[in-house]
Order: sequence, then C-alpha cells, then structure tokens
Amino acid sequence: MSEFTLTRRLPADATAAALRHDVLAGLTSDPKQLPPKWFYDARGSELFERITRLPEYYPTRAEREILAARAPAVAAATGARTLVELGSGSSEKTRLLIDALRGAGTLRAYTPVDVSESALEQAAGALLADYPDLAVHALVADFQGDLGLPGTPGPRLVAFLGGTVGNLLPAERAAFLRSVRAGLAPGDALLMGTDLVKDPAVLVAAYDDAAGVTAEFDKNVLHVINRELGADFDPDGFDHVAVWDPANEWIEMRLRARSALTAKIPALDLAVAFEAGEEMRTEVSAKFRREGVERELAAAGLALRHWWADDAGRFGLSLSEPV
Ligand code: SAH
Ligand code: AVI
Repeated sequence: MSEFTLTRRLPADATAAALRHDVLAGLTSDPKQLPPKWFYDARGSELFERITRLPEYYPTRAEREILAARAPAVAAATGARTLVELGSGSSEKTRLLIDALRGAGTLRAYTPVDVSESALEQAAGALLADYPDLAVHALVADFQGDLGLPGTPGPRLVAFLGGTVGNLLPAERAAFLRSVRAGLAPGDALLMGTDLVKDPAVLVAAYDDAAGVTAEFDKNVLHVINRELGADFDPDGFDHVAVWDPANEWIEMRLRARSALTAKIPALDLAVAFEAGEEMRTEVSAKFRREGVERELAAAGLALRHWWADDAGRFGLSLSEPV
C-alpha cells in the first residue's frame, strides 16, 4: 500500500527562466561565476553519487558514521511525524533517520525536496521498495525559494544533510536559514550537516580526485548550458580547479579556460569571451566550526540543542530548534 506523490513546485518554464537569468548574470560579471545548483541534471546527480564513493571524498562517510550513531537520539529528541529533507539527492543516508523514526513509532511521511527530478524519482522508487507503508511526498523545488510545506503533520524534522548549506554564499545562507526558521512551528527541528575546517591538503584532494570524477561533475554545468540554452561550450577546453580559500574558509571550484575562446549562447543572444587561463567560479563549499554554525543558527532564530561529530572530527551534525 505505498503512497507516492511528486509535486512540481516550479512551473515548467521557471527552471529555464532561472537558468537564463543565472547564466546571463554570471557570465557577464567579472570574475565570471555560476551557481552550483545547475550541476544537477540526471547526469550531474549520478556523478555526485559517484563522488560520494570516492576514496578522497570523506564527507558522506563521516556524516553516515554520525547518523548511524545518533539517529536514535534525533528520533528521541524530535518525535517527528514528518521528515522533510532539503536537497535530498539519493536519500541514502536518510534511511538511518527513517529507521530510527519508525523505530520510535512516530514517522508518518517523508517529503524529499530537490531540484533534480530524476534523483527524486530514483530515491522514491528505492525507498518505496524497502518501506512499502511509508508515505513519500516528493517536491521538485528550489530550497532557496519559497518552500511552503502546508499541511504536513507536526512535529516536523527538516533535514539538510551532506554539507550542502556550505554551497550557499554567506548572505544566501543567512537568508536560507531565516526562511527555514520561518517555516518551523514550535516543536519542529532542523538537522543540518556541515563539513568542518581541516588540513587544506585533505580538502583539496576531496574536490580534485585522482579519478577525475569531480572534474566531470564540474564540467557538467557546461553540458547543461549547452543542452538547455543551445550554447557551444567545449568542456574539453576547460580544466577543473579546486582551491582552498583560507580567508573565507571555503573550497572554490573553478573552470579554467585552456586557451582564449568565445562561447556562443543563442538563447541569450550572447557571445562570452574567455582569456587564456581565465577562471570561472562554479561552486563554493564552505567549511565550518561549531561556534560559527551555532552563531549562524542563532542569527536566524534557531537554538543549537545538539552537536555531534564523527570520531575523526571531520564533519558536524547540528540539531536546532526555533526560539
Ligand atoms: N543530501 C544528499 C545529496 C547532496 S548533493 C547527500 O547528503 O548525499 C546536493 C543535492 O541538493 C542534489 O541532489 C541537488 O540536486 C540538490 N540541490 C542543489 N541545489 C538545490 C536547490 N537550490 N534547491 C533544491 N535542491 C538543490
Ligand atoms: C553537495 N555538496 C555538499 C557537495 C560539496 O561537497 O560541496 C558538492 C560537491 N562538489 C564537489 N564535490 C562535491
């Protein structure tokens, strides 16, 4: 008796309009930049899953270790009836939360939210095969927009795993946390994963793996722009770059033009010139410290109730409540 719904919160042309807007703004600015949410078409979501299994990419394993140890404590602290997950991807680690909340006898429904419809469909299919009595209400939506989760029975646990909050710029992060806070009622909670500051060599290796999967993921944004906007980027004309920015404490991924080139983007009636060696920022991945997470949560009206890290201290998981 499985119950599955998939709601497209974005009108069919909204994604295209948002992509046109971001590409026009980002490629006409100096330095050039693109927001990371455009990595995740079906191929990008698949490449991300491959990244999570790379030897250099520790965050997924570290967060899984924390969830394996602490999911029962999360279930006991929240008693959640609805689990909402932002940027849910494959929902793999989420199973640890689902198991714990079902074990506690409270969970009724799971609402994964993602821009990647293919990731949502695959994740829901796999979940329903293993949890036939779980109601899955998937939402194709931008978690930076107005989420609006009406009618979900509380208490609700909003999970934001993987360290994806680090892919938002500081001002975006503050606005995002305020908007999550505004959607929480008393008794609801936010569970957020944050990758922690560590040896830059470990960080750079995690974002520039030997097998080149992260490079493919980085260049996937060019494939998306070519397909959606009719552009003629040659992904082989760019090198993948990952650098640690110690002032901002974030990893920056960039695409560096191997030679001077011009890309045409017919949907925008635009030709974009790159100098040889010019770099375009495609992602920041901020790394955190406990105090910083606590401060940012507090600024949004959220009080930190629990902080858990993996044994090696690589990754942090916070449970916070609206105040
Ligand atoms: N939470 C999973 C996946 C992390 S990958 C994990 O921990 O492994 C980041 C996910 O967020 C991807 O599935 C991507 O499609 C989604 N995503 C990125 N930006 C988004 C946005 N603005 N709105 C909704 N989903 C987004
Ligand atoms: C989804 N997000 C948390 C990943 C990260 O680590 O910042 C995306 C990623 N980019 C390169 N590798 C993985």
